[in-house]
Amino acid sequence: MVACGTAHYACYVAKYWIEKLAKIPVEIDIASEFRYREPPIEHATVAIFVSQSGETADTLAALRYCSGRAEKIISIVNVSTSSIARESDEVLEIHAGPEIGVASTKAYLGMLVGQLLLAKHWDSANKLDVSFDEIAELPKLIEETMDCEKQIKDISEKIYKKNDIYFIGRGLDYALAAEGALKLKEISYLHAEALAAGELKHGTLALIEDGTPIIVTASQNHLLDKTTSNVQEVIARGAYVIAIGDNQSEKLENISDEYVTLPDSNEILTTVISIIPLQFIAYHVANLNGESIDQPRNLAKSVTVE
Ligand code: AGP
Repeated sequence: MVACGTAHYACYVAKYWIEKLAKIPVEIDIASEFRYREPPIEHATVAIFVSQSGETADTLAALRYCSGRAEKIISIVNVSTSSIARESDEVLEIHAGPEIGVASTKAYLGMLVGQLLLAKHWDSANKLDVSFDEIAELPKLIEETMDCEKQIKDISEKIYKKNDIYFIGRGLDYALAAEGALKLKEISYLHAEALAAGELKHGTLALIEDGTPIIVTASQNHLLDKTTSNVQEVIARGAYVIAIGDNQSEKLENISDEYVTLPDSNEILTTVISIIPLQFIAYHVANLNGESIDQPRNLAKSVTVE
């Protein structure tokens, strides 16, 4: 799976779903790195390119590298007439509608859903414990999740003047942390860094001091205890912890300074909706700093140069 930026972070989520649940090994790569290391592509390889615009130059170049090498080229795109779609064997359209803001939000969610459907298609052993009916209920679940906006606005008021913000999580939540940090950097211009929570004590913990904001998502129950103990490590150094999880994470909720409770849902869908509070944090922090939300400085919606 090859992509750039937010689309690349969406691939992190797909890797986890396809490998852990459908048991097919997945390599993900950043498009601007991929072809320069001339990776061997065995014929029985499916190459997947994920792109909102379908015009990202590095992703398109990576696709062309795989053409004639991989057994099949699949693209997951939002623009069905794009170059990436045209040069693919199969196209999975995410149907998110035109995305105006430079920061990708609804397209990211659309990519996750497209990838989830693909993973379900490959899940012959039926390990992906989510039904099509439950996936079809996602719009309603997203509406309910958006009720957190008022709370996120209040939280944003407490952190928008900070210089550094850290996002942590394990497994799929690490993938969400990466996307949450990118969104914050992109539109609020604050320094944000994402870390696999277990990596903190291998270095970055040294940067945590009184009041450092740490944003943690905890969407997977089997990782909850480990994530909670990582949160305890940062609390011991004075961090200001904003946690996002469901109503079964009592211990995490009790130790956090702020806790955003997600609506009840299937665990796989909890991961999908967990990005919404992170997108709202980026929005409100940028707004409080008076930044232009849709047109951040230095960035283009579609990156057509390599
Ligand atoms: C997302 O918020 C960014 N603007 C950026 O990372 C973007 O996802 C990246 O440039 C890839 O774009 P694409 O999905 O159109 O290929």
